[in-house]
Amino acid sequence: KRLLPLMAGLMLILSACGRKDLSTLNPQGPVAETQYNLMKLSIGIMALVVVVVFAICIYVLIKFRRRKGDKTIPKQVEGNHTLEIIWTVIPLVLLLILGVPTIQHVFGLAKDYTNDKNAIQVKVTAHQYWWEFEYTDYGITTAQELIVPTGKKVEFQLASADVKHAFWIPAIGGKMDNNPGVNNRMYLEFPNEGVFRGKCAELCGPSHALMDFKAKAVSPASFDRWIAAMKAPAVMPADKEIADTFTAQCLSCHAVGEKGEKTAPNLTGVGGRQTIAGILYNDETPIEDNLRKWINNPQDVKSGAMMPSAADNGLTPEQIDGIAKYLAEYKLNYEQ
Ligand code: CUA
Repeated sequence: KRLLPLMAGLMLILSACGRKDLSTLNPQGPVAETQYNLMKLSIGIMALVVVVVFAICIYVLIKFRRRKGDKTIPKQVEGNHTLEIIWTVIPLVLLLILGVPTIQHVFGLAKDYTNDKNAIQVKVTAHQYWWEFEYTDYGITTAQELIVPTGKKVEFQLASADVKHAFWIPAIGGKMDNNPGVNNRMYLEFPNEGVFRGKCAELCGPSHALMDFKAKAVSPASFDRWIAAMKAPAVMPADKEIADTFTAQCLSCHAVGEKGEKTAPNLTGVGGRQTIAGILYNDETPIEDNLRKWINNPQDVKSGAMMPSAADNGLTPEQIDGIAKYLAEYKLNYEQ
């Protein structure tokens, strides 16, 4: 019964973690599975060492304790070849059991990288504090939501536009650093459809902890439809004044379809994304409200974000409303 409050407390802490799609302990792909198995193996060996060492320690403490009235000095031992060989050989064997499969898998994951001609190539560029996904074979770019087909390898080139970040989708595999200047490479596989949460795993500034993204695995047919929808001409705001404001204020950094620039997240189909800015969930708040909040003052959501506030841009509340409504409705219909 004394355990109950403890368990309740623990559950409260764990429930605060919320979104369950952020776990390495529930692997959703072969890369994460391999990493999970290595993790189990090393934790198993470490636990075995702890148990054996503690058992011997406790046994010795009890067996050879000083008894009442006993003043004799125990037998002094200097050097014991048998013991020394044993405590050298056992760790050596344990290290081999740990090291051989680890090295095997590390090289295995690296070797597979260039073997697959059917793989999807994605260049991932990390920015403070958002993610850019460029599909080099298709000539399209998106942000914050990585769309991938199930059943195909996805090969990543990891780049950074500013400081060091790290690309990690815990349920699928990773992590690996996005370094400025040098591109790392890794691949992942997504056997199951679903949305998997991704994280920046390298301290990169005040909003590092908020640098989330989603990986969305869809059927190959849906993926083809998504590529086609991304390549379609940009949909612009119907209202002429909002369209002009959007072009002048937003497309000087952002892009939609073939229009705009690449210094800020690509907004093509942004209305269909699960979150705004990676962390404002549209299932909890209407997407329009999230967009309004973000456009109004990005610093309130992500301190250190590069996007200027509406006040700095000189946007009126009507213009913010118009842009938020337009973006909320800008969806790509590729899932059927
Ligand atoms: Cu980007 Cu931490």
